[in-house]
Amino acid sequence: MNNFIKTEEQKVLRDPIHGYIRVDYKVIWDVINSAWFQRLRRIRQLGGANMVYHCAEHTRFAHSLGVYELVRRLVTEVDDIRNLLSEEEKIIVMLAGLLHDIGHGPYSHAFETITNTSHEEYSCRIIENKTEITKILETCKKGLSKKVADVIRHKAKNMLLSQMISSQLDADRMDYLLRDAYFTGTAYGEFDLERIFRTIRIKDNKLVIKQSGIYAIENYIMSRYHMYLQVYYHPVARSYEYLLHCLFKRLKDLKAKEKEELPFFKALLTKKELTLDEYFELDDYSFNWGFAQLVHHEDEIVKDLALRLRDRHLFEYTDSSEKVIKELKAKLKKAGYDEKYYMGKDAVKQRPYVPYHENNSGAIWILMRDGSTKEISNASTVVYSLVHGPTIDDNIVFFPADI
Ligand code: NI
Repeated sequence: MNNFIKTEEQKVLRDPIHGYIRVDYKVIWDVINSAWFQRLRRIRQLGGANMVYHCAEHTRFAHSLGVYELVRRLVTEVDDIRNLLSEEEKIIVMLAGLLHDIGHGPYSHAFETITNTSHEEYSCRIIENKTEITKILETCKKGLSKKVADVIRHKAKNMLLSQMISSQLDADRMDYLLRDAYFTGTAYGEFDLERIFRTIRIKDNKLVIKQSGIYAIENYIMSRYHMYLQVYYHPVARSYEYLLHCLFKRLKDLKAKEKEELPFFKALLTKKELTLDEYFELDDYSFNWGFAQLVHHEDEIVKDLALRLRDRHLFEYTDSSEKVIKELKAKLKKAGYDEKYYMGKDAVKQRPYVPYHENNSGAIWILMRDGSTKEISNASTVVYSLVHGPTIDDNIVFFPADI
């Protein structure tokens, strides 16, 4: 018996990046309509970037559908992949694409830093631990939920499936670069997706790119390079996320002293591990509602930080050095600020491509004309220069503008 029932007719969702998102299988459609997946409508894709790029309000919901669509195209339009995978493997990898970010919390990556959690871990829990999604997958085929989670945690029997979802050239990155470039209005995030798709081949069960596709890949890596510097690591976006960090630090410290009641973020602040029911409640909406209440908080620091978040009174930043920090500390003290909540260092490193080494299975491989494969940093002078040139570090320190 075939477990994989098709929808009565193809379902389509309009999308500004891919034109249409196309759904042919009932199990995919059911997952999209589950409460857990719909929750992603309430989580924006980019934590603090909308403080810089005002249209960057797009959601994890849109991105997850986009990743699914790219995987669907890979398994139906790329001959080598279509011929190699079974119908079950195709559905598993499409589901893994759809669900790879299901475990994201509010404010995306900022939330992971604040709570010390990983969204992949939550994704696997939500897929496997008796949620509505587990039920949909298990009703479709027994054992399906584990197989989908295994792709996300890189434990799939067929490594090609994980490579399609999470490597240095995967459906996840291709969708978020194009989508984030579109919604931020930054043209340098764009690249030639169709050319990449046309040059994908499979060699020794590994995804490779034909030599003639090398320029499209260089373009893709450069787009990553620019998007990281201009959008993801923009100092103003980081400043907003740092403010979130300070607010939670203060709330946690107050709880430790048992001075305050904290109804809005109680489970998050007091428990080591959240139940999935508690986790479900956390999204950008509930967080923002909580922040709105905190502007009336009796603790002056909580109140001030919540007001700064609401009104976009972000921290200023400058290059960090010992001398600068010493000066800032003195100024903070004079102005009556507690440096614990009003000053912090932040360092980011930019590496648009990491060449192959033992623990890194996600490298990009080029299929040369003679049939051999070469890792891209050995086949492209552009990537070679990026890999062997200096890494770009950005070390800054945040502080209130009025000191
Ligand atoms: Ni993603």
